[in-house]
Amino acid sequence: MSTDQIAPGFTRLADISTSEWSALDAIEATMQPDPASAMLELLRRLEHDDPRGFPVNVYEHCLQTATRALRGDESDEYVVAALFHDVGDGVGPWNHSEVAAALLRPFVSEPVWWMVRHHGLFQKRHFAQHPDWRPEAVDALLAPYAEHEHAARTVHFCAAYDAEAFDPAYDTLPLSAFEPTVRSVISSG
Ligand SMILES: [Fe+2]
Repeated sequence: MSTDQIAPGFTRLADISTSEWSALDAIEATMQPDPASAMLELLRRLEHDDPRGFPVNVYEHCLQTATRALRGDESDEYVVAALFHDVGDGVGPWNHSEVAAALLRPFVSEPVWWMVRHHGLFQKRHFAQHPDWRPEAVDALLAPYAEHEHAARTVHFCAAYDAEAFDPAYDTLPLSAFEPTVRSVISSG
């Protein structure tokens, strides 16, 4: 069954007949989703983004965060999470942590998902000289999470990898170096 073998006789979901649903389900069953390629494409779209005053742009920052996590002997799913942790920057600048976490959620464990989901809050611990994020303001922001079981992991991610990954002179690996791991972790199978 392929898409050109049926002629949909409906224009709204409620009108789809049982036999049409069977045909649609048969088509869907033959199609292999490829979320890894879609995620890689999303990241590639950031390759030439303006760095917005930072020494590296978001694409380079993501690669460098993942490179540092790899060299920190983190697990494959962790390295992939590090690679995509800011991929939501372009489409969800006001909730980029949530965007990345939602995309990764089917493919990574709950602790790694939580880390990505909350890294935007925890990274403010490194905004020490930002006028709006003095240490006492950050402490108040993070107070509800202080005892959370994944807080220490998220603090470590920000301190060891994310907050350090703005160095244009760092020996950052190219995206191709991560592709096999991405395809292994982000799999529809
Ligand atoms: Fe980041």
